[in-house]
Amino acid sequence: MTWREYHESTKHSVQSLRQSRHVLDWANMPDPFRHYQGVPVLDLPADPPTPDTPMLQVLNGDSGNTPAGDGPTFLSQLLFYSAAISASKRVQSTGDRYALRVNPSSGNLHPTEFHFLSRGLKDWPDGLYHYIPSAHMAEQRAAGNLEMRLSGSSAPIVFVLTSIAWREAWKYGGRAYRYCLHDIGHAWQALALAARAIGCDSFATADFPDDAVGQFCRLHDDEWPMLIIELRGDSIPARTPEAGETVWYGGRANRLSTETIEYPLITGIHNATKRSDHTCRGIYPAEPDPQGFGEITLPTPALSQSSFGGVVRRRRSALNFKGGAQSITLTQLSAILAAAARPFFADFADARLIQLYLYVHRIDGLEPGVYRHWPQRGELERIGSGDQRVAAAGLSLGQDLAGNACVAFSMIGDLDRAARAHGDRGYRYVHFEAGAIGHRLYLAAEALGLGATGIGAFYDEDVHGYLGLSPAQGQVVYHFAIGYPVPDPRLDA
Ligand SMILES: Cc1cc2nc3c(=O)[nH]c(=O)nc-3n(C[C@H](O)[C@H](O)[C@H](O)COP(=O)(O)O)c2cc1C
Repeated sequence: MTWREYHESTKHSVQSLRQSRHVLDWANMPDPFRHYQGVPVLDLPADPPTPDTPMLQVLNGDSGNTPAGDGPTFLSQLLFYSAAISASKRVQSTGDRYALRVNPSSGNLHPTEFHFLSRGLKDWPDGLYHYIPSAHMAEQRAAGNLEMRLSGSSAPIVFVLTSIAWREAWKYGGRAYRYCLHDIGHAWQALALAARAIGCDSFATADFPDDAVGQFCRLHDDEWPMLIIELRGDSIPARTPEAGETVWYGGRANRLSTETIEYPLITGIHNATKRSDHTCRGIYPAEPDPQGFGEITLPTPALSQSSFGGVVRRRRSALNFKGGAQSITLTQLSAILAAAARPFFADFADARLIQLYLYVHRIDGLEPGVYRHWPQRGELERIGSGDQRVAAAGLSLGQDLAGNACVAFSMIGDLDRAARAHGDRGYRYVHFEAGAIGHRLYLAAEALGLGATGIGAFYDEDVHGYLGLSPAQGQVVYHFAIGYPVPDPRLDA
């Protein structure tokens, strides 16, 4: 299988949905929480200090400074603001509750797991850990000085983000691999921004030999390593690393559901995008980003003093938006687009592989229509005019929220350019970038008092037709909507 075969096979169309035989087997729903049982579990202190630098400043590249006195507090703070549970919802018919986290996830299924190696953290033993969001604790899978050969890194903290594709495939079938990749993009930015808000730099590595990393971390075979992120900075409370042997506890991975169903499309695309020790070829620069311009220059971005910590813990996906006449300002849109356009720090991020198209419904001073964002120049190019509400909702698989928002987005991925630079593995990078942009859109919108929702469901070819895109100009990989959210009565905290 190639990335193209997978992508073509997982496109939504009216016909593909009508022909789908997929049903949800609730009795076999995968557990959203992984445990490695039988290992020491280390507590992370409750109520870590809140990173209080304004969110928009962090999104625009400023570092915060919320020092933690010791390793446990530092890790608690980092994970509380990047991966922890932040609310719950109640199912009205049964009264059951389920958890929501600081990072969004399609279907709230959370395929991403956070593992980390730490070395030389004050008052925290060196080792390999797995974060358990349900308890805000860390399972210690190995103790001692693990050689940082994962990414050739000497960083004191190295995260390995993994995907459990079955969690997502249970609901979304073969298309689920796309959502796993988006989810990694969201989790990457959740971690990178939390690190920055507490005064650290981060760098993500996506070009690594998959099986070697999986074996190094002794991952259960349903967990696939996707991204390695190292953190550095003076705000990490440090001590001298331990010498001595590594002691492995490993742990038994819990079974997530009675039966795990294999999806050949997912196995196929995962294998196609894997690297081995022999094929790990280094990252080649992609061809330069396309250059263009528009007739509308975006104004100076709006400001907001909402703190990083407050916004992260408040962020939610809107179930729907209010519609009506309430609009957002062009300066607010400018702030949201500026946050999305800031550079990413990763081995695949030299070129930008995503272009943003906007369906403008209600933005002061901007006619309803379709626009393309040119981030280098801070300009919008109008490519279609008139009311876009029915089109935006229709293209998003008939989901009203894309029409009731103030603005909706199509993220167009340059899948061919990515493949020319990185081979099939480039397919992952386009989706990582889309998820990462989505995460920044969520946080910028929330900081400005708005709501947002990522949208993974859209009619692929209809979007291309509507936007007049030739295959060479890219393909839609993610939708998004921002506006005034309708309150959700199921939300508990
Ligand atoms: C990749 C991705 C795709 C999503 N697709 C949709 C979608 O098509 N429709 C929708 O209403 N919500 C969508 N969501 C939002 C999720 O349903 C939401 O994140 C999840 O229910 C958890 O809620 P929270 O974001 O408030 O934590 C998507 C989220 C992500 C990250």
